Amino acid sequence: MTMTTVKLGTDGPEVGVQGLGCMGMSFAYGPVDADASRATLDRALELGVTLYDTADAYGAGENERFLSPFFRAHRDEVVIATKFALSIPPDDPTRRVIRNDPPYIRQAVEASLKRLDVDVIDLYYMHRRDVNVPVEETVGTMADLVREGKVKHLGLSEVTADELRAAHAVHPIAAVQSEWSLFSRDIEARVVPAARELGVALVPYSPLGRGFLTGAFTNADTDLTADDFRRQQPRFTGDNAAANAALLAPVRAIAESRDATLGQIALAWVHQQATVHGLPVVPIPGTRKPARVEENVTATTITLTEGELDQLAPIAAKVAGDRYADMRFVSAGRE
Ligand SMILES: NC(=O)c1ccc[n+]([C@@H]2O[C@H](COP(=O)([O-])OP(=O)(O)OC[C@H]3O[C@@H](n4cnc5c(N)ncnc54)[C@H](OP(=O)(O)O)[C@@H]3O)[C@@H](O)[C@H]2O)c1
Repeated sequence: MTMTTVKLGTDGPEVGVQGLGCMGMSFAYGPVDADASRATLDRALELGVTLYDTADAYGAGENERFLSPFFRAHRDEVVIATKFALSIPPDDPTRRVIRNDPPYIRQAVEASLKRLDVDVIDLYYMHRRDVNVPVEETVGTMADLVREGKVKHLGLSEVTADELRAAHAVHPIAAVQSEWSLFSRDIEARVVPAARELGVALVPYSPLGRGFLTGAFTNADTDLTADDFRRQQPRFTGDNAAANAALLAPVRAIAESRDATLGQIALAWVHQQATVHGLPVVPIPGTRKPARVEENVTATTITLTEGELDQLAPIAAKVAGDRYADMRFVSAGRE
C-alpha cells in the first residue's frame, strides 16, 4: 500500500495523508514504553507516514528529546511538527500557562531546536492562544523565524476563524491543528470554512477521541491510571462516559459490517471530511503500538458510503460533556 500524499497549505510541505501523534509516547496517557514507541515510529515510516507531531509541552520537553534520534536518522523523510505557547507547572498538572509574546517565542524555538537537535523545524505551531497578545504580533514573530531559517512553515492550534484570518494576513499559515472527530465537530461551523477559503490545511488532533472511539476504554475514572489526562475531561468521566459509550452503536455496526475496527471507522470518517468540506485533511492519530499504527493507516483505504455518513452524523450533537474542562483555551470557547 502506498499512502496518498497531500500538501499542507499552498506552499507545502507535502505529507502522507495520515500523520502520527507522538504525545502519548512521553506524556498524558499513562505508562509509557520507549521500545514499543520506537518500533511504532519505524513502522509508521515504513507505511508512508511522514508528518510527526510533538510539542514542547509534552512532558516538559521530554517528547521532543525522545523523538530526536528518530528524526535525525530520517531527517529527509520526516516532516517535524512541534509547538510553543503552553507549559504545565510541575507542582500543578491541572494548570496551563499560555504565552504568545515575542520574547517567549524566541526562547521556546531555541529550546525546541536544541532538544530536537535539528537545524530547522518543518512546521511550527502556536499551540494555544494567549488573548493578551495580538495574534498579528505573535505571527509576526513566527514569520521572523521563517526568514531567519529556524522554521519552514507556520501552523496554529485551536484558533478561531477570525484569529486564523488575522494571522494569515501576516504570513501564510500552512495548517490549523484542532480537535476533529466523530465526537468533536465544533470547528466545522467557522474554522473549517475559513481554512478552505484561505487554502489552509486541517490537521485534526485526537481523531480517535483520545482512544474512546476505539472502545479501548469506556470510563476514565475506572479504566485509566490516576495521572491520565483523560480523567480531567468531562466527557470521559462519571455518568457522561456511560452515555457517550452508548453513542458508539452505529460506529460498531458499520465496523462489523465492513470487518473493520471501530477506530478505523472513526478515522475513515475524519479522512473523508477532506471530500465533504473540500480541503486537505491530515489527521494525526496517536499510538505507541506498531500493530495499531498499521490498523490506523489501513483506515486511509476505507471510503464510507453516504448512508454510513448519515448514520454517523448525529453522534457529535449527542455527546455529553465538553471536550475540555475549560473551553476558553480552545476555539469553540472564543468563537
Ligand atoms: N494541538 C493540541 O492541542 C493537541 C491536543 C491533543 C493531542 N494533540 C496531538 O494529536 C495527537 C493525537 O491525539 P491524541 O493522542 O490525543 O488522541 P487520539 O489519536 O484520538 O487517540 C490516542 C489514543 O488512542 C489509542 N489508540 C490509538 N490507536 C488505536 C487503535 N487502533 N486501537 C485502540 N486504541 C488506539 C492510543 O493508545 P496507545 O498509544 O496505547 O496505542 C491513545 O490512548 C497527539 O499525539 C498529539 O500529538 C494535539
